[in-house]
Amino acid sequence: MKLKRITLKVPKTFQYLLFATLATSWCSGITFFILNRFITIEGDFGPQKHPWQFPAISTHGLAAFMMMILFGAMLASHVPMAWQTKKLRFWSITFVIAVSLQIITGYSLYYLASEDSREITGYFHLAVGFCLPIILAIHVISAAKNRKKKNVAH
Ligand code: HEM
Ligand code: HEM
Repeated sequence: MKLKRITLKVPKTFQYLLFATLATSWCSGITFFILNRFITIEGDFGPQKHPWQFPAISTHGLAAFMMMILFGAMLASHVPMAWQTKKLRFWSITFVIAVSLQIITGYSLYYLASEDSREITGYFHLAVGFCLPIILAIHVISAAKNRKKKNVAH
């Protein structure tokens, strides 16, 4: 098997890996939020949290590590090459900023947030996370349209 480099073009296998990782991160994040916020079950010692919370947040952590590896690969390849084309900057930079915010707020959820600020940081992280797939979809769809336009012109 020949591994293709990521350049201005992003190899299909890498794209699938990125989309699958983002989907895992999104689903596990939302699942954890719903279980944590809305669901309590009757345990032997009174009301308690749903036991699926733990697998949800540990899957989320795994997906977060994967996202950071894949994001790092993009920052070292596609991003500097694509920047020079001066095209599609708005939504792609929005995506880069949004992922960076997830890393910063994710880190502070682990280590920094006090009880009060944890709630605000958590909601901010959830809101930005909710939008991530939409932002990436806009970037990828505009890239496809841009390519089509180029092909018609030549
Ligand atoms: C981590 C952030 C980013 C991700 C995940 C990402 C992802 C993608 C994907 C999946 C494609 C379509 C696949 C392809 O054309 O081969 C694409 C195309 C493109 N991206 Fe990004 N992108 C990112 C950041 C950026 C940035 C910062 C720019 C800079 C302006 C940019 C500019 C472009 C351009 C110009 C294309 C079209 C390439 C072509 O015509 O072949 N992207 N990007
Ligand atoms: C790009 C990547 C992301 C990174 C690096 C990331 C990282 C993290 C980290 C480190 C935590 C703390 C885990 C803990 O407290 O044990 C966390 C929690 C969380 N994440 Fe993410 N995450 C990302 C994307 C997302 C997305 C896409 C969503 C959902 C839409 C999301 C929703 C959540 C929620 C709801 C929590 C729990 C917040 C709380 O404890 O109040 N995250 N994330």
